[in-house]
Amino acid sequence: MKVTVVGAGAVGASCAEYIAIKDFASEVVLLDIKEGYAEGKAMDLMQTASLNGFDTKITGTTNDYSKTANSDICVITSGIPRKPGMTREELIGINAGIVKTVSANLIEHSPNTIMIVVSNPMDTMTYLVHKTTDLPKHRIIGMGGALDSARFKYRLAEALGAPISDVDGMVIGGHSDKGMLPLTRLATRNSVPVSKFISEERLAQVLEDTKVGGATLTKLLGTSAWYAPGAAVSGLVQAIAMDLKKMFPCSTLLEGEYGLNDICIGVPVVLGRNGIEEVVEIELTDAEQAKMNESAEGVRKTNGLLDV
Ligand code: 2OP
Repeated sequence: MKVTVVGAGAVGASCAEYIAIKDFASEVVLLDIKEGYAEGKAMDLMQTASLNGFDTKITGTTNDYSKTANSDICVITSGIPRKPGMTREELIGINAGIVKTVSANLIEHSPNTIMIVVSNPMDTMTYLVHKTTDLPKHRIIGMGGALDSARFKYRLAEALGAPISDVDGMVIGGHSDKGMLPLTRLATRNSVPVSKFISEERLAQVLEDTKVGGATLTKLLGTSAWYAPGAAVSGLVQAIAMDLKKMFPCSTLLEGEYGLNDICIGVPVVLGRNGIEEVVEIELTDAEQAKMNESAEGVRKTNGLLDV
């Protein structure tokens, strides 16, 4: 199993680190445009191998896509991250050009790859890969919901005073502060609806805190987060590599599911060796469907800024 991660910044390096630590891939190639940067990160990570007990080989390259040839999975993290006060949507001008070039270069050397898109605005960047490449839709996956769900579980555990392993919950919709739809109705503590333990007001606060999860970290760190994004990507990569048939909310091209068409947005999908093996349609309440439609409108507005 060969995995390429484009962008050796904080998010890309965290992806490579978590993939390597889980020790299921034979090779991770880290690629960056900054001279020597990916090589340096790869070497530093390889020097953790004997300490952390993994055999995954990590190599780095400065923009030489021939080194990524025949990757089973490619992860695109390149582009600029947001700064405090910025929305993910504001990054589109620079990141669209980068994602278009990077995806074309990757596919030239790995035509059978599965592509995971992390660069923001993620749902629109995933749509861009659909519009500008020939990859079939099950091989294009946007990473957002897995991260947002991890942030939701963190906030739920905090509110419940429970360990995170006791908590389950999922976030669907667009990967944006306004568009996220944390499914509080379906969140549970060990199979019991969380509304049994916390008030409606507290749950509403959990929902709001989840939606601004990325913005809260951007404000604290001065740039966007990397540990949880890296861990979320490694979860998707592992599910594909090990053919786990695991369910995550991911951004995928919808063709009628959830009443939506010609849009990439977060919905539950089953991931296995073929990429997205199933889109899971859960029954939404009228209020949830209305929020999903509103979220889709937001994503469409951003998609409208693309030159495709
Ligand atoms: C985040 O929410 C990177 O968009 C990502 O942190």
